[in-house]
Amino acid sequence: MTRARTGAVMTSEDSASAAAHIPVMLEESLHGLNVRADGTYLDGTFGRGGHARALLARLGPSGRLLLLDRDPAAVAVARTEFGGDSRVAIRHGSFADLADWEMTQPGLDGVLLDLGVSSPQFDDSTRGFSFQGDAPLDMRMDQTHGESAAGFLARASETEIADVLWRFGEERHSRRIAKAIVERRREAPIARTGELAELIARTIGRRSDGKNPATRSFQALRIEVNHELDALHSGLQGALARLRPGGRLAVISFHSLEDRIVKHLIRAESQQPPALRHGLPPPPPVALRLTPVGPAQFPSSAEIAANPRARSAVLRVAERLA
Ligand SMILES: C[S@@+](CC[C@H](N)C(=O)[O-])C[C@H]1O[C@@H](n2cnc3c(N)ncnc32)[C@H](O)[C@@H]1O
Repeated sequence: MTRARTGAVMTSEDSASAAAHIPVMLEESLHGLNVRADGTYLDGTFGRGGHARALLARLGPSGRLLLLDRDPAAVAVARTEFGGDSRVAIRHGSFADLADWEMTQPGLDGVLLDLGVSSPQFDDSTRGFSFQGDAPLDMRMDQTHGESAAGFLARASETEIADVLWRFGEERHSRRIAKAIVERRREAPIARTGELAELIARTIGRRSDGKNPATRSFQALRIEVNHELDALHSGLQGALARLRPGGRLAVISFHSLEDRIVKHLIRAESQQPPALRHGLPPPPPVALRLTPVGPAQFPSSAEIAANPRARSAVLRVAERLA
């Protein structure tokens, strides 16, 4: 599997390699986790198991690997491949709730989050993530509940739609697109990806960089429909709550909005608050520190050449302090 990332733009070059399975920054992220053979690790974004498989290979008989994915199809793959391994526990759900999973309560030595959607999700024509082709406009990673992209576009006000396109897609034509959507839905609901892609292309014309004019809007709708940034906030808090002293957090993100959240959390938790005035209780201790591998890592040019979808990846690693 290769993957489509929050901010990665899918091109024909990418889709040519879509059938392959290429986990992004595999060695760097496992190195960052500092995997101990007897440790307990959580992969909150199983996908098709590229990272999980490599992590499990580094664990001994007393190691534990907890696997989560919000997509039932990914969980089914995890159960088929790892269900018989007594070191592995698997759960369907969002990493936003990782601290509620009783398996995490004894504490974790590492948490890996590899954000975005997977290629199987992106390339499955029934899921509605791609503007290429024509499919129901769904975009939910977990189709068992929540509102689809079509539902959002049918319900939201013009201002709400424009805000989403601007905030999550940095689409500078957000207002024009939102207006066109609201005008169109007066005639009939927008139910299919092809319809939406065509409407956007007709409204804003070609992009100067040659990319599909619907790229930014589709990305924005996906982030909105899956509440991706809220989930990331909660997942990071959950990881902080469950990491043991010395435990590592490794997050691979592909979009500046996600990376900013990760960077700010690490920075905020790594800094000692200013000293309070005499007589007041001492400030809470610092929870995280940056590891010696530095604040951010990027894929090598060789990895990007082999897997163009890796090109926007950013890996950040932090260690829980006592
Ligand atoms: C980029 S893929 C992960 C690929 C995986 N590391 C591999 O090597 O196969 C991202 C996966 O995370 C899942 N995902 C995204 N947000 C999630 C969340 N909040 N909770 C759980 N899973 C999530 C998606 O359903 C998708 O399967």
